[in-house]
Amino acid sequence: MRVPYDLKRKNDYRMKDLFDLTGKVAVVTGGNGILGRSFCAALCDKGAKVAILGRKKESGEPIAAGIRANGGDATFFVTDVLNMEQLKQVKAEVLAKYGHIDILVNAAGGNMPGACIQPDQSLFDVDMNAMKSVIELNYFGTLYPIYVFAEEMVKQGHGNIINICSASAEHPLTRVMGYSSAKAAIKNLTEYLAVEFGQKYGKDLRVNALEPGFFLTDQNRFLLTNKEDGSLTPRGKLIIQGTPQGRMGEPDDLQGALIYLASDASRFVTGTTTIVDGGFNAFSGV
Ligand SMILES: NC(=O)c1ccc[n+]([C@@H]2O[C@H](COP(=O)([O-])OP(=O)(O)OC[C@H]3O[C@@H](n4cnc5c(N)ncnc54)[C@H](O)[C@@H]3O)[C@@H](O)[C@H]2O)c1
Repeated sequence: MRVPYDLKRKNDYRMKDLFDLTGKVAVVTGGNGILGRSFCAALCDKGAKVAILGRKKESGEPIAAGIRANGGDATFFVTDVLNMEQLKQVKAEVLAKYGHIDILVNAAGGNMPGACIQPDQSLFDVDMNAMKSVIELNYFGTLYPIYVFAEEMVKQGHGNIINICSASAEHPLTRVMGYSSAKAAIKNLTEYLAVEFGQKYGKDLRVNALEPGFFLTDQNRFLLTNKEDGSLTPRGKLIIQGTPQGRMGEPDDLQGALIYLASDASRFVTGTTTIVDGGFNAFSGV
């Protein structure tokens, strides 16, 4: 049993489970993706009600149904994060169903083959439309949901936003120009909005980023594994060599950091990036 250090203090937070999310409502964009669905499960496990936003009903509905079958509360909403009108409509539906919005996790995003420079290509072969698309999806696909959902958080006087950036936000990854730029911009946006919201709306509106290292998912499989047998490409092997813990991440490896950022455990934390990468960022390669 934990003993409070000051028995006279009212509502001593050390008496509570700092990671508890009971009564909170979380919106997770890209909640039907591989990392997103693990985020949804973790938030529900800690007691939050989760609005799962994604483009595809056929992949999103079963995730929500699976969470409900395990005693959680989740609802899927068809949403394209690049469609502002649809985001506003979904916000109204989430509010009608759950009444408030406490947490926003921006997990929609990803790399695109067309926006990568192939080994036999140079800058001058780059498809500028693909570059625009990858920046639009990652950067504006994060900014638009913040624009729509944070308005409600400001009205409520509290809210907690978690953006997802990437190892490529720290040091751009070779060949991955557009995605690296977009993720670096998300890290910058996180810091910008933490200051903007903190100064204008006070201590209870926080913005942080979660930075996964390498996790094998639909958005990077084409770079890291061979289509024929799923074995690692030379690039996939290089990543393992560059990761002191010697493996790629499993989606559930991110759950602890996500819940930390989403809960009162991080109540004095804003404008930060939490790295979960098996040591990739710390390793110089030598
Ligand atoms: N997998 C990794 O190693 C890794 C590393 C760092 C960061 N990330 C980031 O984590 C997030 C989740 O990626 P993931 O690895 O789970 O990949 P994923 O492809 O499984 O999930 C991405 C999800 O975003 C959705 N999405 C794409 N465009 C959308 C749009 N316009 N509107 C709504 N949803 C849209 C996809 O349908 C998918 O469900 C992304 O931002 C990604 O960049 C992934």
